[in-house]
Amino acid sequence: MDDKSKIVSKYKKKIELLKRHNKFYFSDDNPEISDSEYDDLKKEIFKLEKQHSFLKKLNLSKIVGAPPTNKFKKIKHLKPMLSLSNAFNKKDMNDFVDKIKNFLNFKDRNIELIAEPKIDGISATLIYQNGLLVKGLSRGDGEIGEDILENLKTIKKIPQKLKGNDIPKILEVRSEIYIGKKDFNNLKISFANPRNAAGGSLRQKNPKETSKIPLKYFAYGFGLIEPMKFKKQSEFLKKISNWGFSINPLSKQIRHLDEIEKQHTYVDTIRSSLDYDIDGLVYKVNDIELQLRLGNTSNSPRWAVAYKFSAEKALTKVKDIIIQVGRTGAITPVAKVDPVTVGGVVVSNATLHNEDEIRRKDIRIGDIIQIQRAGDVIPQVVSVDITKREKSSKKFEFPKKCLCGSPTIKELSKSTQKEDAVRRCVKDYECDYIAKEKLKHIVSKDSLNIDGLGKKVIDKFWDLKLINRPHDIYDLNFNKIKKLEGWGELSINNLKKAIEKSKFIEFERFIFCLGIRHIGQENAKILASFFKSINNFLDLKKNTNRQKVLSSLIELDGIGETQIVSLNNFFSNQTNIEITEKLCQILTIKDFKTKNREGKFSNKTIMFTGGFEKMSRSEAKSIVENNGGKVLGSVSKKLNILVVGNSKPTKKKIDSAKKLNVKILKEIDWYKTLNL
Ligand code: IVH
Repeated sequence: MDDKSKIVSKYKKKIELLKRHNKFYFSDDNPEISDSEYDDLKKEIFKLEKQHSFLKKLNLSKIVGAPPTNKFKKIKHLKPMLSLSNAFNKKDMNDFVDKIKNFLNFKDRNIELIAEPKIDGISATLIYQNGLLVKGLSRGDGEIGEDILENLKTIKKIPQKLKGNDIPKILEVRSEIYIGKKDFNNLKISFANPRNAAGGSLRQKNPKETSKIPLKYFAYGFGLIEPMKFKKQSEFLKKISNWGFSINPLSKQIRHLDEIEKQHTYVDTIRSSLDYDIDGLVYKVNDIELQLRLGNTSNSPRWAVAYKFSAEKALTKVKDIIIQVGRTGAITPVAKVDPVTVGGVVVSNATLHNEDEIRRKDIRIGDIIQIQRAGDVIPQVVSVDITKREKSSKKFEFPKKCLCGSPTIKELSKSTQKEDAVRRCVKDYECDYIAKEKLKHIVSKDSLNIDGLGKKVIDKFWDLKLINRPHDIYDLNFNKIKKLEGWGELSINNLKKAIEKSKFIEFERFIFCLGIRHIGQENAKILASFFKSINNFLDLKKNTNRQKVLSSLIELDGIGETQIVSLNNFFSNQTNIEITEKLCQILTIKDFKTKNREGKFSNKTIMFTGGFEKMSRSEAKSIVENNGGKVLGSVSKKLNILVVGNSKPTKKKIDSAKKLNVKILKEIDWYKTLNL
């Protein structure tokens, strides 16, 4: 090969590689390399083109598309950008309404909702000061967004100066950015769907690139508004429309609950005629004061739900049924299917949930099945077409062993005494498959949050024996990594930086990252607020102390028998203890700090007995927590106040509170404390 062909071949290889990563990133939304590695690859391509002008004539770099970038300034949101919980059918919607009514103790009172199309785009928040657009952020992780103001400014219909009167000093408008379906079809660059194209365009470092793609938007909500004058979501939408924002014309007030289905069906039927993708309707409580009362759970508001349209379906063939092992040892069967496009995404796997599900649906290798994909949920099997089944087909025998060769068991549920549907490997870290999944959990966003150590990188490092236990992350052999394909100096430096950064960690995050079964983010927070510091938590290591400490956890609202048994199991295992200790040596674990807990009940512990007329127990609890207090589940010396509701309070609790000299508040005094 002459020099020129060598260069062309090198260049083409890099282009091919880039195409592959474009697909992972833009089409599959599942990048295999970090943003910086991606940028490096692009830079190498451009460098080659610059050095050898003949390469440009090949006209290949057009496919380069939109580089993701981590170079935007990170800015903390004024108020977190939450996500929505989903509803898929009438029953889910009834549950949503019932939960709201229970929380507010509304019984027969009606609740007015507003139904808005859920635009399938990219969310952004726009901040106006005295009517002037001053900030524009992407959602980011919900807490911290990226400064994409200049890119947002290229969207003509986003007002940079508001018109009209009554404009608040600070106005934060949340919007969904999208590309029209027609515009999408005219695009030269290939993206799997309009949503990915909008995302790619918004993440362009150069706003000029963004302006080449015709972005549009709909404003749907608010973040911070000062002074806040709105009483209803419908009123907010009308007002911002007057100030110059685009709002969706299909929003509709729902005064009666039977209109929920009607509106849903109606919009579903006209859905295909709209010039933008929607994947459902968002139903929101219209009254903003009620929204505030309802508040949020950790990730989503209680006052809104995304009612998704029926999932898109497709037919395909089961090529194989394999099993996967999760970090808690759960064995999940997965159908490998002939690749098929469902809702714009190529699907080649579908979850089969568990052994019972396979038996119930009698799913077999070779079967023609209907699969569906709803939102970002893993594709599922809807039905099997038995008429297409070959005579020789055999029932699927569910493997009784884990991939590591160990036996599996189905646990007995403590409360129902029934066998669990899920089979689990009996091992823990000793099962390589579990150990690998635990590593993936520990580096993930909500745990150590190490950018550049994604799932695929963990798989690779595991196979190359670069990593085996969590603490190995802090002892990686970068000389070996340097030699691997796809790892340049820049990406290695970025990984090193991300690893260094992860050494400083909040206590609650650390508890979560240990991957203790039944200890999710919420429970980790509860435990952190109880133990306060890692040293107290590590007392659980000691056999002598453990039972005593564990039994005191029962007083924590949210922690029950299941969590206590699980903590006991975790700390009875020597490997877990060793790993926890090693991590503690490496990491600096910050003590638990109560956040935003200034308020009426700062440093106070409160317990409720009996029901209240004006609010539910959940609302009472959330009021206490939002005002700095802690709700306890049992009467003890630690309790400061027992609030006694008029409806069926427990006499025993009142008596023990009296004995311990705990302050007792009657329902009426409770309302007075809250100025109700
Ligand atoms: S309300 C607290 N309304 O859906 C969250 N969201 O899954 C309130 N979205 O991040 C969101 N259309 O990007 C709301 N009419 C609409 C929406 C909408 C699209 C997106 C938004 C949000 C995501 C939540």
